[in-house]
Amino acid sequence: MSHIITAGNPILKETAKPVTVFDKKLKFLLENMKKTLYEANGVGLAAPQIAVSLRIFVADDGVSGYEEYINPEWVPVGEEKTIDVEGCLSVPDLYGEVERYSEVLVKYQDRHGKKKQKKASGLLARCIQHETDHLNGVLFIEKALSLHKGKDVDE
Ligand code: NI
Repeated sequence: MSHIITAGNPILKETAKPVTVFDKKLKFLLENMKKTLYEANGVGLAAPQIAVSLRIFVADDGVSGYEEYINPEWVPVGEEKTIDVEGCLSVPDLYGEVERYSEVLVKYQDRHGKKKQKKASGLLARCIQHETDHLNGVLFIEKALSLHKGKDVDE
């Protein structure tokens, strides 16, 4: 498991670089990210969060299973947006309501460089948008409509 860096670290503000080489080193990085995601009980983890400025995130929404997204690009499907609570492994103990597209089409590559795409809705769609923001140096706290400690507003 890798150390997860937190808000204030300049690496989280960088625009991550595309992956161009699909080698053993990449496989090792992905295995490390997978381990780190599950040990931290996260839904998604972007490479910059473990101080690696590459366009990669891994995610498991608990429904569609674990997936690795390399060089991801998403577009909205329809105009509908949803407001829901988000947190982030790089922003411990802070939660906030963020407006995101309800459904997205994401294009990406797998660990072998093979091009893939999928439509996602619900938590996975939210996760894809949150994690892609990480690759562009953006944290959810910059987009949140409000921020609070603890997951529930009334706590
Ligand atoms: Ni995050």
